[in-house]
Amino acid sequence: MNNIVIVGLQWGDEGKGKIVDYLSENADVVVRFQGGNNAGHTIVVDDEVYKLNLLPSAVLRRGKISVIGNGVALDSHALISEIGSLKVKGMDVNPNNLMVSESCPLILSIHKDKEKLLEDLNVNHKIGTTNKGIGPCYEDKVGRRAIRLCDLENVDELNKKVDTLLNYHNALRRGLSYQVVKKEEMLREIKEVSKKILPYKKPLWRILDDFVKKGKRIIFEGAQGTFLDIDHGTYPFVTSSNTVASQAVIGSGLSSSAYVIGVAKAYTTRVGNGPFPTEQKNEVGNNLSTIGKEVGTVSNRRRRCGWFDAVLVRQAVQLSGVSSIVLTKLDILDSFDTIKVCTGYKYSGEIYDYLPASHSIQEELEPIYEEFPGWKENTQGKRSVKELPLNLMKYMRRVEELVGVPIHLISTSPKREDVIELRDVKFSEGALVS
Ligand code: GDP
Ligand code: IMO
Ligand code: MG
Repeated sequence: MNNIVIVGLQWGDEGKGKIVDYLSENADVVVRFQGGNNAGHTIVVDDEVYKLNLLPSAVLRRGKISVIGNGVALDSHALISEIGSLKVKGMDVNPNNLMVSESCPLILSIHKDKEKLLEDLNVNHKIGTTNKGIGPCYEDKVGRRAIRLCDLENVDELNKKVDTLLNYHNALRRGLSYQVVKKEEMLREIKEVSKKILPYKKPLWRILDDFVKKGKRIIFEGAQGTFLDIDHGTYPFVTSSNTVASQAVIGSGLSSSAYVIGVAKAYTTRVGNGPFPTEQKNEVGNNLSTIGKEVGTVSNRRRRCGWFDAVLVRQAVQLSGVSSIVLTKLDILDSFDTIKVCTGYKYSGEIYDYLPASHSIQEELEPIYEEFPGWKENTQGKRSVKELPLNLMKYMRRVEELVGVPIHLISTSPKREDVIELRDVKFSEGALVS
């Protein structure tokens, strides 16, 4: 098994970017397989902060291949601009080191318009999306009217597809008393970027198949988190893609199995609306938010904060077939006297050891907590397990018991090098060993 899938085990922003960057030192290829530029993955290299939205985190390492799979909703303008901003910092992303699936559905400005119109209409449950047009683009994909990257080459085909797409969107816009979009406007928007984006277009499933046969080491970089998954998340307060590990196969065309690593924060955060059983709307939440600098990477919104929820993380481990986890941001808990972990929920006289699917029940769940004494010691930037306080080790052991899989590495700061490997899981002579 030469492939690793990295997924978020909470509501996103677990630190996936940093971990993918760390592990990709020993990989050849990094693949994004769902979501789009709603993702914000932060990587800190030599005090320079990179915030990647669409590009896989391998773009920061020379000699690696970056891949955007068919499962990604592709905003081509955003991609070209992200490539441009990396160029300014000396990184050369070009068609030799970046490949984009020819089947990617394109995000256009009509999608961003629709998202805004519908969020404004949605009085009862505003999702609080990132406003990148992700949901409406996936709606068009499933509705079989999306324009895909491969359509940009063929003018006749593109003309027909634009007609179909506008029939749908203009009917909706008229119904909402919103200005219609003219065909020329949409064609202009597409043509503006066509020449720049087409050189990246590839039959990716085939290239990945070839990579697998050649024994290339591939990392699949998940975006968002398990509880934002369209099927398994806190619906309807979710994103519009599947974020669990099995999507790596669908969203890339990969035909082989993979070792799955889940990334979790040592506490919990959420951006946008929706249920959050362990949320702390008090001093604890404020402290986590301030010390953890919990501000959304994409939308600059303050992230909601709460205690680590072992019930959720265990469910996420099971949903994605996770073999080991990475725990990030333990250093943010350094100053806490007491640390809590949720081990179950109470609802209507019953105890739940999982997150039920019903939104109304999710909103009413009362967490059951286990308490731990804090370690009250600075752990930021530590690089050896010997330097870790005893209470932190005890906390981690209990987390492992509760979530059912071992912790394989921990992150101790935003910086690339600040990682401690607790278990050796690495690519070795063409195979993955743990
Ligand atoms: P992603 O979307 O999962 O890649 O995560 P984000 O980049 O959106 O958010 C994670 C934030 O935590 C970023 O600002 C990272 O630089 C930061 N971070 C990651 N690991 C650690 C850690 O162990 N300690 C601290 N203090 N910050 C971390
Ligand atoms: P990364 O990859 C955290 C949230 C939004 C909103 C919901 C739907 O950085 O972990 P969307 O624009 O996707 O339709 O918004 O999902 N969301 C994220 N939250 N991290 C992310 O990505 C997110 N991507 C989307 O805030 O609640
Ligand atoms: Mg993020």
